[in-house]
Amino acid sequence: MSLDIPAIRKETPGSESVLHFNNAGTGLMPRPVLDAITDHLTLEAMIGGYEAHHKSDHLYSDTYSAIEELIGAKPGEIALQENATRAWDQVFYGMKLRPGDRIIADQASYASSYIAMLQRVKNDGIIIDAIPNDSYGQMDLELLDQRITSRTRLICATHIPTNSGLVNPASKIGSVARKHGVPYVLDACQSVGQVPVNVDDIGCDFLSGTGRKYLRGPRGTGFLYVRTASIDLIEPPFLDLHAAVWTKMNEYEMRPDSSRFENWEGYVAGKIGLGRAVRYLLDLGPEQTFARISTLATALRNQLREINGVTVHDIGVVMGGICTFSHNKTKAVEIKAELDRQKINVQLSHPEWSRLDAETRDLPVMIRASVHYYNTEDEINRFCENIAQICKG
Ligand SMILES: Cc1ncc(COP(=O)(O)O)c(C=O)c1O
Repeated sequence: MSLDIPAIRKETPGSESVLHFNNAGTGLMPRPVLDAITDHLTLEAMIGGYEAHHKSDHLYSDTYSAIEELIGAKPGEIALQENATRAWDQVFYGMKLRPGDRIIADQASYASSYIAMLQRVKNDGIIIDAIPNDSYGQMDLELLDQRITSRTRLICATHIPTNSGLVNPASKIGSVARKHGVPYVLDACQSVGQVPVNVDDIGCDFLSGTGRKYLRGPRGTGFLYVRTASIDLIEPPFLDLHAAVWTKMNEYEMRPDSSRFENWEGYVAGKIGLGRAVRYLLDLGPEQTFARISTLATALRNQLREINGVTVHDIGVVMGGICTFSHNKTKAVEIKAELDRQKINVQLSHPEWSRLDAETRDLPVMIRASVHYYNTEDEINRFCENIAQICKG
């Protein structure tokens, strides 16, 4: 069954008022997600927050089931978080590392992750082995294989970076990780909701995701996947009365499953909305939605390349919906300002958000135009006409 784009757009209120090519920033929420959130907030206002949670517990629980279904996880392997950064942090700061221990990073590493790594270099004396990209622009698997030593404690890889169309070969990275028996955490912040993700195919121990981007859920939501067999490799950096039980005056017991990485108070309406967003995607079919994203992004890149002075900076063998480009005369900040005036949403992509990649490839501040399945060919044409006009000077 093909995607009914007019019906999908009818269910996407924002698509009437903006041309939204900022899906790698935040996707536009569909009506059912918006309704799930506002319904719960209304219930909280009418009967009380705790009581509303109790009444909506089936919806809240379904968020776990929906995420499990989407990524192939088992019950007890998902911890709801406020964003992907905190999810990833649970793994990274939860891993006991001694001076001289090594971790693997990739060229696509996101700034927040790399800053955390640098902090542990400073405080714990660990060593980062950053693996460059191969000639196709994806993580070099041979170098990864060679650089793993007996002191390598964790492989950190980025599925889709903040600043390009690249889709890293996550499953092949997983094969190398398994070959060496090194734990593997995948930053799937930009990929969950965009490309089909299955934790068993990928072979990761841990995976972090966010709600507001390609999943089209609300802001302030995210999740962590922890493989049951790997849960004792990390210890939650923070514990509270939800993550653990205070069993005796001087003792506590951590929860047996991934809920030990959660904390008690949170954005219940948002978490319900996240579950609804995942169900919405499951109904459409992640394979189908990715096929459309990929077709639209290819069309966008091809049209942009035809505009005088434009360079498209995307790399990789497999590419997703994120398209980054610059112009040889008109600065990205000026392009964005003009697009804002036309109600066309894009994001500036700054070199310091992905410094390893930006410095290696000498990337400027770029325009990041990220498409979703609900965007249209007409929008791509309109977008490119605008870019051509703005860059004419
Ligand atoms: C590759 C990558 N990883 C992690 C993050 C952090 O996600 P969040 O803002 O949900 O914490 C981002 C955010 O843009 C990202 O692009």
